[in-house]
Amino acid sequence: MADEPLVLGIETSCDETGVGIVRGTTLLADAVASSVDEHARFGGVVPEVASRAHLEAMVPTIDRALKEAGVSARDLDGIAVTAGPGLAGALLVGVSAAKAYAYALGKPLYGVNHLASHICVDQLEHGALPEPTMALLVSGGHSSLLLSSDITSDVRPMGATIDDAAGEAFDKIARVLNLGFPGGPVIDRYAKEGDPRAIAFPRGLTGPRDPAYDFSFSGLKTSVARWIEAKRAAGEEVPVRDVAASFQEAVVDVLTRKAVRACKDEGVDHLMIGGGVAANSRLRELARHRCEAAGIELRVPRPKLCTDNGAMVAALGAEMVARNRAASSWDLSADSSLPVTDPHVPGHDHVHEVSKENLYS
Ligand code: KG4
Ligand code: ZN
Repeated sequence: MADEPLVLGIETSCDETGVGIVRGTTLLADAVASSVDEHARFGGVVPEVASRAHLEAMVPTIDRALKEAGVSARDLDGIAVTAGPGLAGALLVGVSAAKAYAYALGKPLYGVNHLASHICVDQLEHGALPEPTMALLVSGGHSSLLLSSDITSDVRPMGATIDDAAGEAFDKIARVLNLGFPGGPVIDRYAKEGDPRAIAFPRGLTGPRDPAYDFSFSGLKTSVARWIEAKRAAGEEVPVRDVAASFQEAVVDVLTRKAVRACKDEGVDHLMIGGGVAANSRLRELARHRCEAAGIELRVPRPKLCTDNGAMVAALGAEMVARNRAASSWDLSADSSLPVTDPHVPGHDHVHEVSKENLYS
């Protein structure tokens, strides 16, 4: 529909410079420039390298998205940007770019939450989000179970990791196995040829007295690393495929078990899974089986929409416009620890007063 809001979204919370354009819940463009190769030799994202890469990629990526969508910047109804959480310097590049474009074009600016965007992106794949929706967000930085009755205003944390994020565990185990970075995709690939029951790795926080919805992956990580060390010390070959499959099974078993339990306990019949780890083929498969058995409808966006991208930010921005949420003010700042309970950063009353004074203050 032509009267649905046309929004451009900018995402720079980690190592992907993402620029997406949506009209309502329709994806028009999803341009991503990644600096992942520049971080590979360090085995993790180096914040300063990421910030510099965002700066270089920003304008070309915005131009590419506009071209891909076949729209002019003048036609936009708003510009959305990830205000947090994420790497402070990296976020700052996106927020500054969004402000500059919004100010120059005279468009409203929406600073939005990275995690709420990971949930909202599913609207581009499966249409309007059911309300309420349970969301399992699993990435390199987060592992959370969230319950949302309105993605623009109400996101409630049910549980989260108490130590490592699920993706972080994949990355660390891949490093121990010398498989490179990022670890998730390569472990996923090796696991396909391994036996998930070969080694019984521990399932963190699944005891009767443990918190029902929180996660812990650090014990699992240590256990897998010790197992590998012991094999190496004994001069035996490490069965990489079996280790990958058994480790992956331990992670996805706990994730899906807790997510389904949260849905049942809260009487929610929809589960969405997002974040980079949602690209994991075994997670998708096991979630499908368990949701089917429990009568829960599962929604997982295609892998490209699960990893960090600008389309998810545009999707949430468009929802903000559609629901008449307040735009952000020109003093919007990057907040590296923006709470998950804040889907966006609303501005003060003088939002649309554009003056050089408040732009540069
Ligand atoms: O959401 P994302 O792109 O960035 C963050 O916000 O962290 O997630 C990246 C994480 C990395 O840890 C990566 O190893 C993991 O997602 N990942 C996967 C897979 N693809 C990416 N983990 C498991 N299986 C995959 N297929
Ligand atoms: Zn993310």
